[in-house]
Amino acid sequence: MPPSSPDRFHKRLRVLLWSGAAVLTVTTAGLLVLRDQAAPTVVYSGEADIRSDFELVDHTGHPVTEADYADRWQLVFFGFTNCPDVCPTTLAYMATTLDLLGEDADRVAPLFITVDPERDTPEVMADYVANFHPRLVGLTGSPTQAAAAAQSFKVYHEHMADAQAPDGYTMAHAGHIYLMRPDGRFEAVFLEGDQPPEDLAEEIEMRLDQEGRS
Ligand code: NI
Repeated sequence: MPPSSPDRFHKRLRVLLWSGAAVLTVTTAGLLVLRDQAAPTVVYSGEADIRSDFELVDHTGHPVTEADYADRWQLVFFGFTNCPDVCPTTLAYMATTLDLLGEDADRVAPLFITVDPERDTPEVMADYVANFHPRLVGLTGSPTQAAAAAQSFKVYHEHMADAQAPDGYTMAHAGHIYLMRPDGRFEAVFLEGDQPPEDLAEEIEMRLDQEGRS
């Protein structure tokens, strides 16, 4: 496939961002409504401020930072293991995307970062990520560490009382999948349901190809 021209690439990226109801509220003060019912509204302060910057613990119990994944692109999703709907479907979608990437999946670190670190211990995360993909890395940490990680990605999340939920609470959170560059800078954001996994795999391949040529 021939590479897209830069203009076309950027236009496509913009459309993608807007259609994902995602980033870019730099110029508008309006609230963007997400389709994730658990996350009613969210405001982002702009892609330039989004960075992969964290000190967490992986699901094997090892302390990690974004530098541990600096040899790869990062596909990052925030959620929690007690999530009834958005997390399982999005993680399954990421797993399918990884399979579609084939060997190129070696160049992508798929990271699932919890917004519920008090329940999502490394052991809980290990059991959970194993349900989805052998490459999927679960990341947790202290409440302070997890909050700082979410802050670096500007991820909306909120503790909400819910009598129906386990332990009487749920975590509302945004449902975006972040594609981050190996140096930790923001590249793009996606929502499951905006494109089939084949298209997400192609979006990633396109960037891997460009990197390979530069
Ligand atoms: Ni969720």
